[in-house]
Amino acid sequence: MTVTITHETAVAVVTVDNPPVNALSQVLRQALVDAVAELDADSSVKAVVLLCAGRTFIAGADVSEFGKPPVPPHLPDVVASIESAKKPWVAAIHGSALGGGLEIALGCTYRVAVASASLGLPEVKLGLIPGAGGTVRLPRLVGPAAAVDLVTGGNPIGGKKAEELGLVDAIIAGDLRAGAIAFASDVAEKSLPHPLSSRGVPAVEPGFWEDAEKAVAAKARREIAPLKALASVRKASETDFSGAMAFEREAFLELRGSEQAAALRHVFFAERAAPRPPELAGITPREIRSAAVIGGGTMGAGIAAALRDAGLPVVLIERDPAAVERGLANMRAIYDGPVKRGRMTQAVADERMAGVAGGDDYGLIADTDLVVEAVFEDLAVKRAVFEKLSSVCRPDAVLATNTSYLDPDAISQGVSHPKRFLGLHFFSPANVMKLLEIVPTATTAQDVLATGFALARLLAKIPVRAGICDGFIGNRILKVTRAQAERLLLAGATPSTVDAAMRAFGLPMGPFEAQDLGGLDIAAFQRKAARERGETPFAPVAERLCTIGRLGQKTGGGWYDYQPGDRTPKPSETVAGIIAEMVEGLPQRVWSEAEIADAILLPMVNEATRILEERVALRAADIDLVKIHGYGFPRWRGGPMHYAEARGLSEVVAVLDRLSAVGLAEPPCDGLRKAAGDGGFSTLADQRTMGKR
Ligand code: NAI
Repeated sequence: MTVTITHETAVAVVTVDNPPVNALSQVLRQALVDAVAELDADSSVKAVVLLCAGRTFIAGADVSEFGKPPVPPHLPDVVASIESAKKPWVAAIHGSALGGGLEIALGCTYRVAVASASLGLPEVKLGLIPGAGGTVRLPRLVGPAAAVDLVTGGNPIGGKKAEELGLVDAIIAGDLRAGAIAFASDVAEKSLPHPLSSRGVPAVEPGFWEDAEKAVAAKARREIAPLKALASVRKASETDFSGAMAFEREAFLELRGSEQAAALRHVFFAERAAPRPPELAGITPREIRSAAVIGGGTMGAGIAAALRDAGLPVVLIERDPAAVERGLANMRAIYDGPVKRGRMTQAVADERMAGVAGGDDYGLIADTDLVVEAVFEDLAVKRAVFEKLSSVCRPDAVLATNTSYLDPDAISQGVSHPKRFLGLHFFSPANVMKLLEIVPTATTAQDVLATGFALARLLAKIPVRAGICDGFIGNRILKVTRAQAERLLLAGATPSTVDAAMRAFGLPMGPFEAQDLGGLDIAAFQRKAARERGETPFAPVAERLCTIGRLGQKTGGGWYDYQPGDRTPKPSETVAGIIAEMVEGLPQRVWSEAEIADAILLPMVNEATRILEERVALRAADIDLVKIHGYGFPRWRGGPMHYAEARGLSEVVAVLDRLSAVGLAEPPCDGLRKAAGDGGFSTLADQRTMGKR
């Protein structure tokens, strides 16, 4: 039974039991409406407690109903029926009361919660707004300012904070059921507050809405849901309840069918699927209770911090005592930031550092479960490290390389028990960026691959399996991004127009600004290696900039000029001069922002399709996750592959054909033409198995 009713003298307890998260399925919605009718008719009942079995209160909508036509009873009617019940209903909250779950709680007369509960309206994260009165009832309960924060940001708050805001009436310290029943019997004797629908919204200071709109718009960039959510809360303050409900419902229905909501749903499902790929079902990962990192530079320190944040004891190995000190200092610097900003207490930072042992003696890691290597990007140096690891580590210890571009198969040559070796490619800063590319070699055992995914879950990262090729999934596509950006420079665009177009598309930064931030030397080093392999990488302008020492912000100039102490990019006459020399004789034209975005993004999609064809990625959605979580691709666009499919693959092919006809892109690959004709990328990637390439 989804809902059962029990009686504790005059209090009825309505228990929802719809595992795993008590989602608001149609059956549950109907059962709640029925429970209201039954308890209204029962004169022995003076008050009702709404409680959930299992690990959480009603955690939200039923995701399996997403994108399908809604079936009655609709949620607004369920909330209304609870709100108009003849007896007071008390929501007893543990776990999460999110989205529709919180809207149900807002329909109740009172809300009590355990301190560890989390409450929120995360709909904007799916491109929606609450659709069952959340934006209308919440400001009546907690005031417009708190409601704006909760509804437009979508982030949940804890029980204590909810009590401070008046969102919950009491925190229950002991047993929730007993506490809620006691609370309910107490209020049953008292006069009841007005239901939220008949209360007013507290007034706001003049200019409040204008300021809120500016702040929300700036944060949302081009996402529409947060602004709609704001408009809906505003409407709730400026009109009567039923007018506001109608406004909210209309906005909700409009957003539900929007492209942005479809894209965000796609990402939501991709993220849910990523940590447990079907290819690894039933394979038990090795246990990871301790970890070590070799190399305490930018990446090593970040990886060590990520491992510490997940609670693992960490050993940090460097070359010599001075390097060990530098490595530990790098880690401390990582924690200093959040401590200064008040996001972490000094005590927590100290505890994290106390769990790190630094040293240059490999004997320290003889019994470690997982070792991640993050030393210089040099095959010989890495091989020497793994030779040592092979001799000191337990034979079942998992050994991983964080290489960006080297071939993990080559690094693993000579590793003893090579089945335990794999690539774990973190992104910088490694304690912040969510993406983890997991790269099996030809010999990696399935349980070791599964350990990579288990580690990602432990670190709260998004894992994506990548096959071996130059740059794996993400950096291989990045090379195309950069090459296309340079092609545009030779065809009439400037660094500023290209960067502005990509920001307008939704990226946090354009490709040239990003290179200036990271430094042009890393890519130059990769191009040199590529040329040595006989390849012909395309970066004519970047090469010139490197030869004159313009390596980016760190040298005071790269694609742009920088004033000392100021990171604002200023167009550079030197760069303009170099480009002018190089374009002599080449056709020039004026580019619109949309054309620039096409000329960069669609070739990326073309390369990504090759990546799928070659099985370097198993699913188009994995590529979307790589670009979103490793490279700042706008989530509300759904990632490049979703974007291309939503746009129409035939159109993508047509644009690429036009660009390639004038030498501004590679022609569309066979896989892309096939996907365009056959109904999408899933036709290329569906039946893939993980493991062997
Ligand atoms: P880095 O130069 O900041 O740090 C490398 C560290 O390794 C130095 O502290 C050095 O002292 C240490 N080291 C060198 N040889 C060693 C040895 N034999 N034993 C112990 N420690 C040794 O380099 P970074 O940027 O941290 O890169 C490390 C690895 O991570 C490279 O393979 C790089 O390609 C990869 N990577 C880098 C990313 C980035 O954005 N910087 C992103 C993803 C991967």
